[in-house]
Amino acid sequence: MNQTIDLLMKRKSVRQYTDQPISPDERQAILDAAMRAPTAGNMMLYSILEITDQELKQQLAVTCDNQPFIATAPLVLIFLADYQRWFDYYQSCGAEDLAKQKGIQPRQPAEGDLLLACCDALIAAHAACVAAEAMGIGSCYIGDILERYETHQQLLNLPPYAVPVTMLCFGHPTRSQIDRQMTSRFPEPVIVHQNGYHHMSAAELEQMFAESTARLMEHGKRTDGVENFGQFNYLRKFTSEFSIEMNRSVRAMLDAWNRGG
Ligand SMILES: Cc1cc2nc3c(=O)[nH]c(=O)nc-3n(C[C@H](O)[C@H](O)[C@H](O)COP(=O)(O)O)c2cc1C
Repeated sequence: MNQTIDLLMKRKSVRQYTDQPISPDERQAILDAAMRAPTAGNMMLYSILEITDQELKQQLAVTCDNQPFIATAPLVLIFLADYQRWFDYYQSCGAEDLAKQKGIQPRQPAEGDLLLACCDALIAAHAACVAAEAMGIGSCYIGDILERYETHQQLLNLPPYAVPVTMLCFGHPTRSQIDRQMTSRFPEPVIVHQNGYHHMSAAELEQMFAESTARLMEHGKRTDGVENFGQFNYLRKFTSEFSIEMNRSVRAMLDAWNRGG
């Protein structure tokens, strides 16, 4: 098997780290890989915040839905979708004035620009993740950085056109993390559709989750009225407090982006 593919197939999230620090060379390789990732128009529409202040890590461990392991990671990187750098330059270099002279309407960064910058940030993040993995360093994404936008904006000194997309914790995995079973994935036909979207029927969905439902229900009758995996997931994730907060926070982020501050 090809070594890179083998690496990709064996990756799993790592949430417990040994005391071994990440060396300066390892840190550099992780950052270099991130910055070498493909980027839309070669514009690097992202910034990476390295969180070295332990106090700040502790705060993030709380603000990101109380996940204490964040504060134990020797390397913590936040990936921002960042149009601020380019927009500031457009303004200071006279680009808007020239556009006006040519009859072109100046504009602010909008939703499409944000989505493109999010793509950049995530692609860079995953290049960092794979580089770390190749050096035996584990990582875990923290989606909860999307929550509490106003708090994170203040904590991280964020201007309106630089918004958190994801956070990555890195560290050498403990023995138990190395030995931990890999998570499962949906079968390929569910994910890979040929030439157009296959909208699954209720029967197909029920069949797809039959095993998960059976596992969920196997230890006798549940007392919470849950009868299948969909109901369980809906209550546990989709309507959970963190999910409500994430959507509120992202709405605030989008408002700030669209207002320009
Ligand atoms: C966008 C994103 C956000 C995630 N957020 C968190 C998180 O906040 N906390 C956490 O412990 N794991 C988080 N994870 C890790 C997932 O839980 C993990 O990838 C998933 O359970 C599959 O496990 P595996 O990575 O070991 O295959 C996140 C992963 C992604 C891609």
